[in-house]
Amino acid sequence: MSTTVQAAASPDALAERLFGALIGAMDLFSVYLGDRLGYYWALAGAGPASSDELARRTGTAERYAREWLEQQAVTGILTVENPAAAPLDRRYHLPDGYEAVLVDPDSLSTMTPSAQILAGCVKPLPQLLDAFRTGGGVPYADYGADLTEGQAGGTRPQFLHQLAQDWLPAIPDIHARLLVDPPARVADIGMGLGWSSIAIAKAYPKVNVDGFDLDDASVRDARANADTAGVSDRVQFHIQDAGDPALAGRYDFALAIECIHDMSDPVSVLRAMRRLVGEDGTVLIVDEKVADHFTAPSDDVERFMYGFSILHCLPVGMVEQPSAATGTVIRSETMRRYATDAGFTAVEVLPVEHDFFRFYRLTG
Ligand SMILES: C[S@@+](CC[C@H](N)C(=O)[O-])C[C@H]1O[C@@H](n2cnc3c(N)ncnc32)[C@H](O)[C@@H]1O
Repeated sequence: MSTTVQAAASPDALAERLFGALIGAMDLFSVYLGDRLGYYWALAGAGPASSDELARRTGTAERYAREWLEQQAVTGILTVENPAAAPLDRRYHLPDGYEAVLVDPDSLSTMTPSAQILAGCVKPLPQLLDAFRTGGGVPYADYGADLTEGQAGGTRPQFLHQLAQDWLPAIPDIHARLLVDPPARVADIGMGLGWSSIAIAKAYPKVNVDGFDLDDASVRDARANADTAGVSDRVQFHIQDAGDPALAGRYDFALAIECIHDMSDPVSVLRAMRRLVGEDGTVLIVDEKVADHFTAPSDDVERFMYGFSILHCLPVGMVEQPSAATGTVIRSETMRRYATDAGFTAVEVLPVEHDFFRFYRLTG
């Protein structure tokens, strides 16, 4: 995951590298189509199919299904059993084990949310060009459901398998408090579609969670997700700017996952979180595990984070002005400065292994 990219040695080498990236981008958008149209599900569920069978299983048009199947086989995602047969007679299947990447939403290896979030990131490209020219921002809502669902689809498996199993036990006093009476109250800031709140409620059956997010569509979806998960009696979601000085309440624990870097006023939000837990309380911030300093060329993690920053995180953080204009690449020194400015006296980086996230415990 941390290969350092090398500068291209010549114009031809650069062109070759970008041509590879073009095919890679097309692969991702083909995965987007296969996921959204239910093609991978249909192949995993009912087995190998011709283009006509796949079209009938999914309610799509045969000619398009055929072109997609051929593209998937050519690019090495699906296998074709009889490549020499006539186009309508060819049968395609999903190789064993690929379900974890293309079909199973609970899998830590799932990649369909990455395709979906990329589709969301490029939805408002004309506004993005304007933002670069004017210094303004692109509203979060303009990225649409592909962005919010792609984000949630990517983090949800981690919440399911790691949040209560690895992340919260790294703060033993909080982990212990969440398990006992009187029932603990948790504030989940910028919870998006709510899966972190839901995972906490399921892992800690006594706990009550309040989630706060300023995106209406996300809060609406989060409420539906809590209903479906059967935890809406203990999990409530509120449409609210977490930096609002009116945000009140008393909580045993507050957390914010992958969102402080998106905020125009992160210090106000951290100050509000400190107020919610009180001076003796604990706040957990989960944010990007970027390098301590800018270096270039750099590794895959840094390239990944800067990619999101130019397409989404910086522009959403620039809508409200004045803005801290942080962007995805929130270095630990920046997080420490924000925490100190918000009144915290201690910032501890927790010993949690993760390729992309760093875990900050803020106290004092
Ligand atoms: C990248 S998403 C992360 C969602 C979720 N925590 C996750 O990890 O999947 C960032 C979220 O922060 C929310 N957000 C940004 N600024 C906020 C603010 N000032 N108050 C509350 N929520 C905010 C956005 O609406 C969005 O849902």
